[in-house]
Amino acid sequence: MPKLLICITGSIAAIKLPLLIHKLAKKDVACKVVISRDGLNFITPMAISTMGVNVYLDDNIDMNSYDQVMQHINLGKWADYILVCPASANSIAKLSSGYADNLLTATILASNAHKIIVPAMNKLMWKNSLTQENVSRLQHHGFTFWGPASGLQACGDNDIGRMIEVEEILEKIDNLISKEQNHQFAISNLSALFGRRVVITAGGTKEMIDPVRYISNHSSGKMAYALAQEAISLGAKVSLISASDLPPPAKSAIITVSNGADMLKAALDLAKNTDIFIGAAAVCDYTVAKYSPQKIKKSDEINLNLITIPDILKTIRTKYPDLFIVGFAAETNNLIQYARAKLINKQLNMIVANDVSNNKVFGQDTNQVTIINKDFTEFVSSKASKDIIAKFILQNISKEYFKK
Ligand code: PMT
Repeated sequence: MPKLLICITGSIAAIKLPLLIHKLAKKDVACKVVISRDGLNFITPMAISTMGVNVYLDDNIDMNSYDQVMQHINLGKWADYILVCPASANSIAKLSSGYADNLLTATILASNAHKIIVPAMNKLMWKNSLTQENVSRLQHHGFTFWGPASGLQACGDNDIGRMIEVEEILEKIDNLISKEQNHQFAISNLSALFGRRVVITAGGTKEMIDPVRYISNHSSGKMAYALAQEAISLGAKVSLISASDLPPPAKSAIITVSNGADMLKAALDLAKNTDIFIGAAAVCDYTVAKYSPQKIKKSDEINLNLITIPDILKTIRTKYPDLFIVGFAAETNNLIQYARAKLINKQLNMIVANDVSNNKVFGQDTNQVTIINKDFTEFVSSKASKDIIAKFILQNISKEYFKK
């Protein structure tokens, strides 16, 4: 939650601050208030503290209390944003010279917060070259100015110097915070997997029966490739072990395989140097016990003796007990029950369950998944494009991965 410190100085516009703080209280913002001695000529602490907002004053500091004596440091460190509102010409002048002669100026000098000045004064004071010099100096030192506006002033003049309206201040605070939150999300997302090595299996393996025929499934590789693309955009180094014919995402290393044995071999090769292994491929569970080197002649009935092929994820787990492994569960019924069983049986860190009945996932551009973590917490996505589903899966993977 963003932390906003409002510093009220000696201007008649201070009478609008209880309304601003009342409206701020409804937002997802933590708020504290410092009032200067001159500010107390226009507003009482009670007008603010009755709204549940802590108010800090110069004269309340108990000089025998270490915490209170350090209040300017604590407040300065606490704040993400400092809003000097209203900002009188006098306070602007003191701030531009680095004064620290009261709690308000000392806090601002002691803070790395984003500092915003909301000026309010008579037009002649605003236009005075000394004030303008102080404003430029503060801007040069990274202070942001909101306003002033033009309009009727307490002295009867009608010109620039009036504090901008409360609604406009609230709108600016909203924009500031949402921009910061987007920025934080982008940073956290951009570096979410930065430099991490991710291996993803893709597509449907083919088990040859004879030189012409094979056993396979409908997997296109789209889900796996969407995961690869998203992992790359999150800064990961991605290797795709692919049985898919799709063109691989740029910047991914591609190892093309056909059957389960080749996929297993490639997986074992890569798993030793990887951080996250995602088994998104539809691996055939069976292959023929005996491959026929010649095309089997057509007859009314042939019996294929099928045997299971090794489970890739289980084999990887056995060899790399600490590797972060994510599996998929493709089911047509009892989705969660069967997915949980695979989560346990394959000793996965996480499993992505998808209902593949009625051909609604294989080869399609959309999917809907339920992610189940090792502790059986579940995260259900809505139906969306496989790109969006890939974002959903990777957000949950990076959250779990960095937790371990
Ligand atoms: O490729 P698309 O057309 O986009 O379709 C996406 C998908 C449906 C293929 C994908 O979302 C998906 O569900 N992939 C897993 C399909 C699958 O084989 O699920 P399964 O429940 O049969 O296997 C469970 C897990 O064990 C999977 O992670 C699988 O890769 C793995 N496995 C299975 C068999 C085997 N011998 N070794 C394995 O590692």
